[in-house]
Amino acid sequence: MSRTHRIAVLAGDGIGPEVMSESLRVLDAVEARSGFATERTEALVGGAAIDDGGHPLPEATVNACEASDAILFGSVGGPKWESLPPDIQPERGALLPLRKHFGLFANLRPGVCLPSLTHASPVKNELIPNGFDVLCVRELTGGVYFGSPKGREERDGEPVAFDTMIYKKSEIERILHVAFTAAMQRGKRLTSVDKANVLASSVLWRETATEVAASYPEVRMDHLYVDNAAMQLVRRPGSFDVMVTENLFGDILSDEMAMISGSLGMLPSASLGAKKEGTDLYFGMYEPSGGSAPDIAGQGIANPIAQILSAAMLLRYSLGEGQAADLIEAAVARTIDAGFRTGDIATGADGETKVGTKDMADAIIERL
Ligand code: IPM
Ligand code: MG
Repeated sequence: MSRTHRIAVLAGDGIGPEVMSESLRVLDAVEARSGFATERTEALVGGAAIDDGGHPLPEATVNACEASDAILFGSVGGPKWESLPPDIQPERGALLPLRKHFGLFANLRPGVCLPSLTHASPVKNELIPNGFDVLCVRELTGGVYFGSPKGREERDGEPVAFDTMIYKKSEIERILHVAFTAAMQRGKRLTSVDKANVLASSVLWRETATEVAASYPEVRMDHLYVDNAAMQLVRRPGSFDVMVTENLFGDILSDEMAMISGSLGMLPSASLGAKKEGTDLYFGMYEPSGGSAPDIAGQGIANPIAQILSAAMLLRYSLGEGQAADLIEAAVARTIDAGFRTGDIATGADGETKVGTKDMADAIIERL
C-alpha cells in the first residue's frame, strides 16, 4: 500500500449508520482497486452521542476529527431529542460547532436531477426535459448564523430578540473564489444571489462579487435577488450552472433545490475549510444533503447513494484520490442506468429492480 489517509467516520442517527456502513463497503472495494488505504476512526455524534454521554459533540469526537484528513458524516437528529434545549439538540449542538471549529466556510451542494429520474421531481416534467444539474455554493460560517450581537432581552416591558447579518469583505471574496473555480470546471456560468435591494451586507456582497468576477473573465456571472432566485429555480432549474450565496439564503435555496431534484437520497454535500498547506486539497466534512429520516431508519430501505457519493467527494477534495471518486460516480450512474431503484426513486416501471440499502450498494460495487 503506497498511500494511507485518515478519515473520521461520524455515522450519527436515523438512517446514518445503515447508509454509512454501505458507503464504507464501497470505499473498501474502491481502495482495493486503486492502491490506497484509509485508516478510519469511528466517533459518536448527535443523538447517539447524547445518549452515550449527554452531549451531541463530545471532545473525543472533535479530537478524532482533528487527527484526520477529512470527516465522513452521516446524519443527526430525530424525534427522541427534539425537546432538548436548542443548543444541545443534535443538529445545532453538533453541526454548527463542527463547521465553526474547523472553519468549513464553503458548502457545496449539488442539485442533480438525472434525465432518467425526472419523474421523481415535483417540477412539471415538460419544464425539465433533460433533468438539471445545479451546484449551490453556500457560505457556511458567516452571516446571520454566527453574527454578533445575537440575543434576547427585555425592552420597554416586552421581550425582543435579535440576530446580526454581517459579512467581512474577505469572507465574501473567499467564497466567491470557490464558486468561480467550480464554475470554471463546469459550465462557466455563475449566479450570485443576494438581497441587495434591502440589505447592507448584500450590497457589499454584490460589489465584491463584481470585483472578484474580473479575475474570471471566462465565467458569465449574473445577480439575482433571493426571492426571484427562489422562483426561477422552480421555473427554469435547467438554466442554472453554479449558484453562490450567503449562509441563510443558501440554507433555504439548497433545500428547495434538493426538493425539486426529486431524489434527496441521491445528493451528497461537501463543507470545505482551508486548503492544506502546499496542496489543492481541503480539510472537509462530507455528508448526505438529506436528513436522518427517522421514519424509515432501521428498515434497510434507505437510499445509500447520497452517502456513497459523499465519500466520493471526500476522496476528490480532501484526499486527492480523484480517480477513485470518478470510479464511484461512474458506478452509481451505471447502477441507475441499469434500473436499480430504492423506494424513493422507484416508479414501478418496466425494467426497474426495486432494491434495499444493501442491495443497492452491492449493485454499485459490482459496477466499479
Ligand atoms: C443544513 C441544516 C442546518 C443549517 C441546521 C440543522 C442547523 O438545515 O445543514 O442545511 O441550518 O445549516
Ligand atoms: Mg438546511
